[in-house]
Amino acid sequence: MLTNKRILLIIGGGIAAFKSLDLIRRLRDQGASVTPVLTRAAEEFVTPLSVSALAAAKVYRDLFDLTDEAEMGHIELSRAADLVVVAPATADLMAKMAHGHANDLASTLLMATDKPVLIAPAMNVRMWEHAATRRNLATLQGDGVLVVGPDQGNMACGEYGPGRMSDVPDIIGAVAAALRNGPLKGRHVIVTSGPTHEPIDPVRYIANRSSGAQGTALAVALRDLGARVSFVTGPADVPPPGGVDVIAVETAAEMEQAVAAALPADAAVFAAAVADWRVLNASGSKMKKDASGNAPALEFAENPDILAGVSQLSAGRPGLVVGFAAETDDVVANATAKRLRKGCDWIVANDVSPSTGIMGGDENAIILISDAGADVWPRMPKAEVARRLAQRITDALDGG
Ligand code: C5P
Repeated sequence: MLTNKRILLIIGGGIAAFKSLDLIRRLRDQGASVTPVLTRAAEEFVTPLSVSALAAAKVYRDLFDLTDEAEMGHIELSRAADLVVVAPATADLMAKMAHGHANDLASTLLMATDKPVLIAPAMNVRMWEHAATRRNLATLQGDGVLVVGPDQGNMACGEYGPGRMSDVPDIIGAVAAALRNGPLKGRHVIVTSGPTHEPIDPVRYIANRSSGAQGTALAVALRDLGARVSFVTGPADVPPPGGVDVIAVETAAEMEQAVAAALPADAAVFAAAVADWRVLNASGSKMKKDASGNAPALEFAENPDILAGVSQLSAGRPGLVVGFAAETDDVVANATAKRLRKGCDWIVANDVSPSTGIMGGDENAIILISDAGADVWPRMPKAEVARRLAQRITDALDGG
């Protein structure tokens, strides 16, 4: 996936630097080469020797190291890469970048490079939320710097909140997205995924068993082929992938709005298990049992059909619209009728009867329904279904 890609990895001085060792390993597993650069502060957290051993490459540390300058000047070093990754990007490194400092090797390389730069910020939550970091982040984004994370969670300093460096797979995803060079380069694809939650009251909701696994796998496969992916996801079990634009929603109405805002797109894939109904008489405060013992009666209203709406757009319809049909009986007949009723180009139909173990499982057995008829695929891992579908989408867009 990252075969022959050259990554200049600048490791900043933060506790998250230990994750950069794993990052080096994973980047190399994917076929990339890594040239590591350590800031002075980073050496307090990881040793040059371990970084060099994992990268199987020389570690660059000092601007004034004449041997390095004789071997490769800092200008050359900054350009001999396809992508510059800063992980962890500390508050200090971000500030230096935002203000154009060039007073050590890392900041000088970042000033001198003509390649895309991706940062993975990591810092204490207060530092992340500080007005200065907000300003610096906005400046960097305005300058075209790509950003992955930070995540929310427990931090080494004992506090909780946003500031943890993204996990390595997410950084790898962002690297792949930054290096988009596959056949879908320049294409925008919207993917919906996961269930929706329809509130009954502030603490209760109606949901379904969709894990979001197939939609997530599809987003990854499309991203890996070079697409810019808008990933509109309900509250799924599977975490969203890195390197895609994640738009998190709860309800069908929010999903509809998010899809509309993400248009235009070359293709749209509706893998979400959208609730058909929402509770019309949802309560603004928590419903209580009453003394009479009467259970509340819920009234339902039909949700907007997002797939049908986009399929039937008179202007701005994506070139390819793909729906999913989770069925328990008469899969082909129901899905074929659904394709015509909704007006989409393809339906990915599958049997979600509990006995198949497909809903929430790792495998899927699908039937791809198009105007050419029904194409039955053998049972295979969801990631493989995703890869094949992404390839079909690529072929369809190229042919169209
Ligand atoms: O009609 P049914 O829910 O079986 O259709 C499934 C397909 O329609 C899926 O692609 C799903 O994402 C989409 N859908 C939608 N909005 C709804 C209901 C379903 O986009 N309200």
